[in-house]
Amino acid sequence: MNKQFAQDVERGLSGSPKRLSSKYFYDEAGDKLFQAIMNLPEYYLSRSEYEILEMHREQLLRCFAGSGEAFNLLEFGAGDGFKTKVLLRYFSEKQIPFRYVPVDISGNILRQLAASLQEELPVLEVEPVEDDYFQALKKVKETTGRRSVVLFMGSNIGNFSEEETISFLGKLYENLNKGDLLLTGFDLKKDPDQVRLAYNDSGGITRAFNMNLLKRINEELGGEFNLEKFKHYPMYNPVTGEARSFLMSREKQEVRIKELGRSFSFEAWEPVHVEISRKYDLPSIEEYARRSGFAVVKHFFDCKHYFVDSLWEKK
Ligand code: AVJ
Repeated sequence: MNKQFAQDVERGLSGSPKRLSSKYFYDEAGDKLFQAIMNLPEYYLSRSEYEILEMHREQLLRCFAGSGEAFNLLEFGAGDGFKTKVLLRYFSEKQIPFRYVPVDISGNILRQLAASLQEELPVLEVEPVEDDYFQALKKVKETTGRRSVVLFMGSNIGNFSEEETISFLGKLYENLNKGDLLLTGFDLKKDPDQVRLAYNDSGGITRAFNMNLLKRINEELGGEFNLEKFKHYPMYNPVTGEARSFLMSREKQEVRIKELGRSFSFEAWEPVHVEISRKYDLPSIEEYARRSGFAVVKHFFDCKHYFVDSLWEKK
């Protein structure tokens, strides 16, 4: 049994409002569902960022390596590396000396990534780290001597609350050296109907992705959730830029979780908050950089300006 998972579920379901963390979406089934989401016509995020990396790979390389100096490329939440491979291929072609350090909480997806890189780019130096981002931050510090470039793409940052964002960026800043870089992907505010569709696809893949969390509690913690008694309910608030997803109890019920040795009661239509996916505008992005001490080097956009990869430096 995963102790941290058990503890977080216990705490999250005891509080009011109830909540469960989206970081637990990503077991083997969840990884597959997220890969399916990235291919959905409604889920514009991945395609927009892919376009950014393809379009700006040359300039990104110049920013990362200057005139060809070696660097370490760390990626938080690397996932299957589909988008990052655009850069990895290009950097390898240009024979730039760099080591790629993908970090993810899913060991499953990391092993897939390492295997596929071994096949596609056998000479690339890869050192996967299966850990929490915050744990991995410590390892950033140990990789001295070379410039560190941290990638935090896909608008993964959007899953953090405001406070988590500030503490994450602050901690990251402290753990970097002068001259190190951070490239963060932010999903930009856009037509709210388009955002809503991205988190509520007609094929129900996103619903299954959210529901997988209850399935995982059933499988790993002996939970007795009946998934049919919960409804996936996503919403978007264009004022705050917060897309939030809930699992709502369709009726009053008690659900036992064996490994926790107790039951939890749900009122009819009580929501469990499972995910926040925040959308940004440029002034707020620049404000995050300023507050955490970083200098903005450049914003890289896709053609439609749906998304931005923002490059910051520790001066
Ligand atoms: C991987 C966290 C960026 O929030 O858009 C996709 C996850 N959730 N559909 C996001 C997700 C529902 C995704 N991130």
